[in-house]
Amino acid sequence: MSAKIIDGNEISASVRAEVKVEADELRARGIEPCLAVMLVGEDPASRVYVGMKEKKCAEVGIRNIDARLPADTSQEEILALLDEWNADPSIHGILVQLPLPDQVDEKTVTERILPEKDVDGFHPVNVGRMSGGDTTAFRPCTPHGVQVMLKHIDWDPSGKHAVIVGRSNIVGRPMATILSQKEPWANATVTVAHSRSEDLAGICRLADLLIVAVGRPESVTGDMVRDGAVVIDVGVNRVDDPTTEKGYRLVGDVAFDEAKEKASWITPVPGGVGPMTIAMLLKNTVTAAGRMAGSD
Ligand code: GUN
Repeated sequence: MSAKIIDGNEISASVRAEVKVEADELRARGIEPCLAVMLVGEDPASRVYVGMKEKKCAEVGIRNIDARLPADTSQEEILALLDEWNADPSIHGILVQLPLPDQVDEKTVTERILPEKDVDGFHPVNVGRMSGGDTTAFRPCTPHGVQVMLKHIDWDPSGKHAVIVGRSNIVGRPMATILSQKEPWANATVTVAHSRSEDLAGICRLADLLIVAVGRPESVTGDMVRDGAVVIDVGVNRVDDPTTEKGYRLVGDVAFDEAKEKASWITPVPGGVGPMTIAMLLKNTVTAAGRMAGSD
């Protein structure tokens, strides 16, 4: 079998088109949706992500406030700026790009953002609400984007076995929470596998839906994929490649060429999950703006 490709560029474009309509409606009522983004330090991957977020905000008509702070910024300075953004009624969404430098405690920073402006869905209030089945809580953008992809290809996870490889707070854990919810496009039987799992290959082979978010290039190989499985690759890794102009290329956590011979559907890297994350962030931002304006 050669898998069909799940085109994240196309699906995210349809999400962004919806977001633009919502942003236009808000603007017609005198509300300009606004996302404030904080980047601390010079991490090259984070700079690329933040640059993309800014570009996509402009395309859908979301105002962007951008704070790029030096790597030695103190936690107090970060918290003070977040307090300003929390108090500013013209700012609807706040995002602090992770990871943060070592002198800054991510938990303290995440908890400082008002839950109603937490468009990343990382604040414990939103995590707790979502875990309790509240469908109005902001959902973390990457796993929510994966759920939207499944809906787009009309592959219903209900009753199916989803294996998630990786237990991060950003992807693996919230992915498990979302897919096990009693709601449309969920209701899956979920296994969360991780670096300590015994017989990882055997667990992966049980998956109807295999979602990989471990940050290790091409670590899930073709023999770990069940025939006909849907494979979602969340990883984005740079590997050296002297044959390319940049000297590197991007690969996922899944060995794509092998896995696509087994899977029924598969996401590519790049052009798979990546663009969905940003699209869902924009969606959360217009939702936040609508709620603050009292329309949602
Ligand atoms: N770093 C990697 N992914 C993300 C994300 O979705 N949000 C934030 N804030 N930081 C990240």
